Amino acid sequence: MKRPPASDRVRDEWLRRVEAEYRSCAITQHLGLWLLQIGAAPDLIKGAMRIAGDELAHADLSHRAYEAAGGGEVPRIERDTLRLVRHELDPLEHDVTRVCVDVFCLGETIAVPLFHKLRAGCTVPVARRVLDRVLRDEVRHRDFGWTLLDWLVRDHPLASELRAVIERELPSWFSRLRGVYAPAGAAEKHGISAGDRAWGLMAPATYGEVLSRTLERAWIPRFGKLGFDARRAFDG
Ligand SMILES: [Fe+2]
Ligand SMILES: [Fe+2]
Repeated sequence: MKRPPASDRVRDEWLRRVEAEYRSCAITQHLGLWLLQIGAAPDLIKGAMRIAGDELAHADLSHRAYEAAGGGEVPRIERDTLRLVRHELDPLEHDVTRVCVDVFCLGETIAVPLFHKLRAGCTVPVARRVLDRVLRDEVRHRDFGWTLLDWLVRDHPLASELRAVIERELPSWFSRLRGVYAPAGAAEKHGISAGDRAWGLMAPATYGEVLSRTLERAWIPRFGKLGFDARRAFDG
């Protein structure tokens, strides 16, 4: 099949993905240090280190897709976003819990069905190669988050206060996610051309559909098992 020409939207999106993968790498590296500092099990620390390596590989592959699409700009590296921020008055465990839930149990969990959808319509080999690798890795990144959460809220000596952090903050993490994936008006916004779809992009409305499906299929049952009411937090 002939490769469809890449639009500006394709180039923008792939450059944005390079930047996002750098951010994921930085965040996970930083979390790995925090895990070391709170004395987490070696398997969790090694898990974080391996994920950081995956995220760099995603950045590299995404950059290849960007260049193949005709892009020649340098990714914007915003140093201040490439780190985790401490709430200095709280114990470090609180911040570890925040990152675990927000980035992994929410972010990496929705990433699995999102990349599944993105990959399903992607036929340009250089873009498809990125989505193949990312989809494979995101399953492990998601599982890392839920394994870490399980330890924090079930076995950790501070479990009851860590639970309270989640009860308090889960609604705001969900509402941020809604702002990203299902902003008002996204459903009416332009769809997607066949060429853009082939390059691994997707219509804005599809992100919102995946969000609702992830709530039903993943967050409600997974949080439910740990004693959290994700539906109430999502609606709240
Ligand atoms: Fe990634
Ligand atoms: Fe990831």
